[in-house]
Amino acid sequence: MSTKSISNSKNLTIVVIGASGDLSLKKIFPAFYTLFQQKLMPENFHIVGFARTNMSDEAFRERIKNFLPENSTSTIEDFLKRCYYCQGNYSEIQDYAKMGDLIQQLEAGNLSSKIYYLAIPPFLFLTVSDALAHSDLIHAQEEKGIWTRVVVEKPFGKDRESSDELTAGLQKVFREEQVYRIDHYLAKEVIQNLMVIRFANLILEPLWNRQYIQNVRISWMEDIGIEGRGGYFDEYGIIRDVMQNHLLQILALVAMEQPIQLKADYIRDEKVKVLRCIPPVSLSQLVVGQYGPGVMQCKKCEVKNGYRDEEGVPKDSITPTYAAVALFVKNRRWDGVPFLIRAGKGLSKRTTEIKIQFGEVPGNIFIETAPQLTPNELLIQVQPNAMIALRIVNKVPGLSLALGESDLDLSYESAFESRIPEAYELLLLDVIRGDKSLFIRSDELESAWDIFSPVLLELEKKRIQPVVYPFGSDGPYTADLLASKYGTAW
Ligand code: BG6
Repeated sequence: MSTKSISNSKNLTIVVIGASGDLSLKKIFPAFYTLFQQKLMPENFHIVGFARTNMSDEAFRERIKNFLPENSTSTIEDFLKRCYYCQGNYSEIQDYAKMGDLIQQLEAGNLSSKIYYLAIPPFLFLTVSDALAHSDLIHAQEEKGIWTRVVVEKPFGKDRESSDELTAGLQKVFREEQVYRIDHYLAKEVIQNLMVIRFANLILEPLWNRQYIQNVRISWMEDIGIEGRGGYFDEYGIIRDVMQNHLLQILALVAMEQPIQLKADYIRDEKVKVLRCIPPVSLSQLVVGQYGPGVMQCKKCEVKNGYRDEEGVPKDSITPTYAAVALFVKNRRWDGVPFLIRAGKGLSKRTTEIKIQFGEVPGNIFIETAPQLTPNELLIQVQPNAMIALRIVNKVPGLSLALGESDLDLSYESAFESRIPEAYELLLLDVIRGDKSLFIRSDELESAWDIFSPVLLELEKKRIQPVVYPFGSDGPYTADLLASKYGTAW
């Protein structure tokens, strides 16, 4: 968010560790390619893929190519020429030495800045960071504009304790300012707009508090299951996969105070403050669900497996694929306003949206004419359609006084001609230019874990059974009960 400037680091080596995995092929390489195509990469860069699979540079390039947009053959070839592959085991020091030799060869005497992208499961983070340090592949201090940065993906730990261990382990090798923890939702266009609509306009902020807002609902729904990620998902579940990170970050941007300035640390200071005002979730504020078999109501009416029938999932798994929770921000602005958040897989549709529900109009003179009308609501839809809509009450044209609700809406598609970039493009560009506004600082991570760690441990200790909901439905009925407890519906 802060004023962006392209890094002056002309020589850059990017090392993607875990280069043959899904994340690398589907997100990371296409994002670097798009930046390259838009001439946003430094003049002299190389990308080295490091992974266990045995393959040549050519085979690696062929794999990457399959995931690049087919828009310009010559640009693709130019990009691929800068991609190299080094086969290695994550714990074998001599394999890192091999990678070091390759990097030196590519540098040809001009020392380069380094980005290490750890596109690997979290249990390997410390093995890899220690090996990088041991192999002398990290510049500890920035000298003559040459730096080293490391990018890590969520999930960062499983609870506060394991997250602290990871942080401490990484801090033995990297300083906090070198660590870029990704939460790709922060780079989604509409999420970035949250701060802008709040703080660059006059009309919302005076109403943005407990006096005028009745509740805030944040929904994250997916119409797919775990898509072959059974091993990973069963260990983490939806709260760790989506709520503790993506949804809490959205909540923080909705609820935080205005930062002093548009600097990464000022923005993150405000997010931390608001997260610290949220007491840990208790079981009574939470409902959990798990998808069972169901039928997807689309063209083909596909029959879908239940979660426990997915590959890699134990038959008696209690891992939630759905969760809904009521959070409270105990500060002067928000005390008493429920923030209802829900996230689920295997549902009827894919959507991520925020609803800000305003209160009733005091002394409303139209109440007898139109008692059924609901109060104003601001809808901010992140996906599938980027849009913002404000529901207001109007007179319906005609000779009698009839009132109706309609939306003042802003659809990104019709309002803006510009392309909506992929979240990873912006994130990777920000790593290159050293802008940390969209990355998670360690104290933010701690506060986020503090909200969910106790209840996660309790769920597991008491083996709380999730309520089963059919694949393709709107989730468990208990989530509706939770919302109605707070006087609303999702
Ligand atoms: C990831 C989660 O962080 O986000 C996945 O691990 C989820 O489970 C994905 O499917 C959704 O991302 P997006 O950008 O497609 O909404």
